[in-house]
Amino acid sequence: MIRILIGAQWGDEGKGKIIDLLAQKSDIIVRYQGGNNAGHTVKFDQEKFVLHLIPSGILNPGKICVIANGVVIDLEALFREIEMLESKGIQVKGRLRVSEQAHLLFPYHRLMDQLRESQTEKKSVIGTTKKGIGPCYADKMARVGLRAGDLRHLDYFKDRLWSVLRERNRILSKIYKHEGVSFASIFPKMKSYRSRLMNYLCDTPLYLYEAARKGKDILFEGAQGTMLDVDHGTYPFVTSSNATVGGAIAGSGISPTLIDRVIGVVKAYTTRVGEGPFPSQFPSDLMKLIQTKGEEFGSTTGRPRRCGWFDAVIAHYAIRINGIDEMAVMKMDVLSGLKQIKIATAYRLGSRLLKEYPSSIRDFSRCTPVYETMRGWSENVQQVRRWKDLPLNAKKYVKRLEALMQTPIKILSVGSKRSQTIFL
Ligand code: GDP
Ligand code: IMO
Ligand code: MG
Repeated sequence: MIRILIGAQWGDEGKGKIIDLLAQKSDIIVRYQGGNNAGHTVKFDQEKFVLHLIPSGILNPGKICVIANGVVIDLEALFREIEMLESKGIQVKGRLRVSEQAHLLFPYHRLMDQLRESQTEKKSVIGTTKKGIGPCYADKMARVGLRAGDLRHLDYFKDRLWSVLRERNRILSKIYKHEGVSFASIFPKMKSYRSRLMNYLCDTPLYLYEAARKGKDILFEGAQGTMLDVDHGTYPFVTSSNATVGGAIAGSGISPTLIDRVIGVVKAYTTRVGEGPFPSQFPSDLMKLIQTKGEEFGSTTGRPRRCGWFDAVIAHYAIRINGIDEMAVMKMDVLSGLKQIKIATAYRLGSRLLKEYPSSIRDFSRCTPVYETMRGWSENVQQVRRWKDLPLNAKKYVKRLEALMQTPIKILSVGSKRSQTIFL
């Protein structure tokens, strides 16, 4: 079975938790886009792990994890993550494959991201994670990037890094009035990572092809979410990769004809970190309440996440773009105690009623949601493990989401731990 798991909102839907659960029955788990802007949380026993680059499947003993070609890799962050895992007794060596074609993210990418965000005019701030993701993907597309496999040939790597850095430093000084980054501060570090990286480098498209032919179970772990996709999201308030299903194909080299299923993940409400329009955003009192109850603070940056009602227009759009076969609905427990729960079912744009997401950011930012209101439930559902034990109004809410999305909900999450899950 080959499955792709996709965030169907603005990221942080709870992908890490679901990947960790599904990985129990998979052989290989693959990250294929984004970088360490992602933060995927997995909790079990008394432990909490936040994974940024390594697939969340690593926490299941014996599984093979792949960082495929579409990911941008900050080697410093990668080795920090490997050390963190190994210090907690999770073996990484022998279980991780890193694509030779994956682009490397350098300190100058991080710096350019930070400087651009802090020096641009207010309306152009994206609210990035400042991890250097945009500048690294920009270099990839401009064909001035360096790839993990380039480190095999140190002379070539050195020469290319030298000339790219010279160009980047010109931009840093001319546009951002920054002194730039010295070759001496990067190259020796890269050289020191080299031998460790060689343990992991792999022709991952070939590896995945052969694994698929052998009938292995492969799980693709999306990062970010549909509305942060560089093509299909709320551009320009997006990330710099394809967080939709196509990203898995280009970002790993797997053939689309081999994909069996696409699984979407949504929260029972909506969140977004960073700038950009968000029609169903809560008023401030409700925002505070859900932020606190749902612990809605970024796994990567610690920033408070903006919170709002479930937006069925967005969810339906994500299902269309990704061909989602089934859904996981997360954080049902956070909604306990609300008297009323709203669902955005359409938008009003001037005198028009929109049932579909408008691709123009100008239009989208002027949309106001049309809400449907349902009765809430007061019971704590964190201990519920069977559908029949859920409060009636919680069941009605889930059934309504299912009807609006026209897609079966197969997993309900009622808490952050592995065990706090209802399979339908
Ligand atoms: P990801 O980026 O999609 O993997 O999601 P994050 O890990 O960034 O954010 C999801 C957050 O919600 C994490 O802190 C999870 O531990 C937590 N979480 C996941 N599912 C549930 C749930 O059903 N209930 C509650 N209360 N928290 C959850
Ligand atoms: P996971 O995988 C939520 C957001 C940032 C910002 C925009 C661009 O944990 O769901 P970037 O640093 O990528 O250039 O920032 O995208 N963003 C995320 N929001 N979850 C994520 O990842 C995100 N990764 C990036 O907040 O708005
Ligand atoms: Mg996250």
